[in-house]
Amino acid sequence: MQYDIITFGSATQDVFMSSRKLEVVEDEKFATKKGLCISLGSKMHMDDVLFAMGGCGANSAATFAKQGLKTAYYGMIGKDGFGEEVKKELKKHNVSLDLMQESDKFPTAFSVILSLPEVGRSILEKYGACHELTNKDIPFDELKADWFYIASLSSKSHEMFVPLIDFAKENNIKVASNPAGSIKTPEHTEILKSVLNKIDILILNQEESSKLTGIDFNKEKEIFQKLDEWVDGIVVMNKGARGVTVSDGKNLYSAGIPESGLVDRTGAGDSFGSAFVSGYIEKNDIAYAIQLGTANATSCLQKMGATNGLLKKGEWGPWEKVEVSKKRL
Ligand SMILES: Nc1ncnc2c1ncn2[C@@H]1O[C@H](COP(=O)(O)OP(=O)(O)OP(=O)(O)O)[C@@H](O)[C@H]1O
Ligand SMILES: [Mg+2]
Repeated sequence: MQYDIITFGSATQDVFMSSRKLEVVEDEKFATKKGLCISLGSKMHMDDVLFAMGGCGANSAATFAKQGLKTAYYGMIGKDGFGEEVKKELKKHNVSLDLMQESDKFPTAFSVILSLPEVGRSILEKYGACHELTNKDIPFDELKADWFYIASLSSKSHEMFVPLIDFAKENNIKVASNPAGSIKTPEHTEILKSVLNKIDILILNQEESSKLTGIDFNKEKEIFQKLDEWVDGIVVMNKGARGVTVSDGKNLYSAGIPESGLVDRTGAGDSFGSAFVSGYIEKNDIAYAIQLGTANATSCLQKMGATNGLLKKGEWGPWEKVEVSKKRL
């Protein structure tokens, strides 16, 4: 089977639990200097609970399929109830399951998202089947596509990263990647650096691009200079509520976000990245890709769950399209 795009990355069952009773405690011992807390030994009432599919590979596949691309997800779920839910959800979004594997040995990956509405959330993550796949499992003969979207490959599954990119290059398949999982360890970061020149669209957030280049978070110009040196293709830097900056090596494109509320930010990166790539495939136009990515992320953030608010092809939601500025480098 020939696909427009195949996505790689995690597929999980997510459980969102939100409570206005959760407390933010400021303390230096937390990596972000703030903790989302519940008193030890106590019970806390939750205002809402929602089960939803998650995982960057599955989330991005949902966007591509909703944008009208013939999409397959390659990854692994467990033969369990959560795996059945993931399958149901992917099918609902019209994602092909023909490449997906099911494991007797490993359970479907699972996350609990603890959310304090309008303030923030923390994620409790349990690795599972999708994190156990390695390059030995990949059915290369069946990977026929115009594009690969390689999302975060964490833990053991990172072994697939270089073989997938090399295979894509040998077979004229374009590669878009949001390799957040590669920047978690110094070893994986070096592996990522060694293949950056083979990536057509590299998508990172501000913190990840700073870590990858070793350049301070705020020195955006220097970060792009370094990334443009390493990446022949397009570099996308997501900046949360401050929008996005994109370089194609010749011009720097920037946009903010539209005026909108927010319910839960889970899925922001996946919904932006996959809609950016959908827009780029459709029109070969970076400004248009930014507008579609931003609209899809904005819509995603209005609903609990990483795929509940995603836009269908032709839909833009009630928000103004963001203005994109273009500056010569
Ligand atoms: N708080 C927010 N308000 C409005 N838009 C947002 C917000 N956070 C993110 N976005 C939109 O989503 C895009 C991607 O989000 P972000 O920069 O947080 O990426 P990320 O850190 O990779 O996200 P994730 O944690 O999901 O991986 C942003 O460029 C922006 O368009
Ligand atoms: Mg991200």
